[in-house]
Amino acid sequence: MFDVVAIADFIPERRSHEAFPNAKPYASAEALIADPNVEMVIVSTFNSMHAPVARMALKGGKHVLCEKPFGFTTADVDSMIAEAKAAGKVLQPFQQRRFEEDFQKVRSIIRSGILGKISYIQICWDGFGRRWDWQTSRQYGGGQLYNNMPHLVDHAMELFGDGEPKVQCMVASSLSIGPAEDEVHLTLTGKDKPIIRAELMATNPYARERWCVCGTNGGLHGGTKKLEWKYVDWSKMPKRVVDMTPLEGRVYCSEKLEWTTDSWEPVTAADAGAGAKPAPGPTKQLYLSLYDAIRKGTPQLITAEAVRRRIAVLEQCYKLNNIPFPEGAIL
Ligand SMILES: NC(=O)c1ccc[n+]([C@@H]2O[C@H](COP(=O)([O-])OP(=O)(O)OC[C@H]3O[C@@H](n4cnc5c(N)ncnc54)[C@H](O)[C@@H]3O)[C@@H](O)[C@H]2O)c1
Repeated sequence: MFDVVAIADFIPERRSHEAFPNAKPYASAEALIADPNVEMVIVSTFNSMHAPVARMALKGGKHVLCEKPFGFTTADVDSMIAEAKAAGKVLQPFQQRRFEEDFQKVRSIIRSGILGKISYIQICWDGFGRRWDWQTSRQYGGGQLYNNMPHLVDHAMELFGDGEPKVQCMVASSLSIGPAEDEVHLTLTGKDKPIIRAELMATNPYARERWCVCGTNGGLHGGTKKLEWKYVDWSKMPKRVVDMTPLEGRVYCSEKLEWTTDSWEPVTAADAGAGAKPAPGPTKQLYLSLYDAIRKGTPQLITAEAVRRRIAVLEQCYKLNNIPFPEGAIL
């Protein structure tokens, strides 16, 4: 559905690839954008250059698929949206993890209401390891807030729903060789909303599970390979009222709960023989939706306007932690 007709990179060896023998090599994004054969540009440069290069490509009359981060500030996003509107071109944020099966399952279970009113959601991306590349430096806008947090924030905001959250955020540079943060603790709160925590650790060799969801009927836990949830039906339990008499035998309140349990595992290629078909991967789903948007004018599944709300959260995280925005960001 897509032909790679040109590649631009500062590094000469990266301007060609055996999979795309006919792709024209270019030394700069400007030169690639000037190529009339190029219909759509995938911006996967250093973080700080995403918005400037995307704007340049839109101005040059190209559709744009822009990697995360989708700019550093809402002003960055607004400027890209304005260029896309002026050019009449599709502007697609690369937010492919929205299509991840575990996330989609978690969202559908929460929306089904079986867990009751959701009180708390925890999303963890833990690991143990050092980095020493540009993603640890401030120069190109490195650091986990705009590196991997866009994925967690995308999931968190999707589960937060409408309205703007109150943002609290603490960061640390623990193992990173450069000065940029490699650990993030983000909390989103709002009226009648669950407390949502999104945490990313570089110093946890005993990684926590990706998902923990708590609700008034039960809870869910798990990760990409398996989710489990269980819930009670309160209507089948005795009615309780506040009883001020100290409990007999000095025991605490206790009652036997009847749990309904369920679980989910992704359909794998090995299941295909049994007739079950694995879902196309997240990246493929993003490209399929982008193809339809460009060729058939179908509404985009993930819009620039929706991702703007995620960037608003990340922008606040930078401000709360007094982190300087990289050169090129519109403030
Ligand atoms: N969506 C995802 O899951 C996902 C996964 C990995 C990386 N990314 C994003 O993709 C981007 C690239 O990451 P990477 O790991 O491939 O980094 P990388 O350093 O390996 O590659 C970046 C390349 O861009 C080139 N470059 C940078 N600015 C340029 C410009 N203005 N013109 C031409 N070439 C330029 C560099 O020379 C380098 O070869 C990052 O912004 C990262 O956040 C997204």
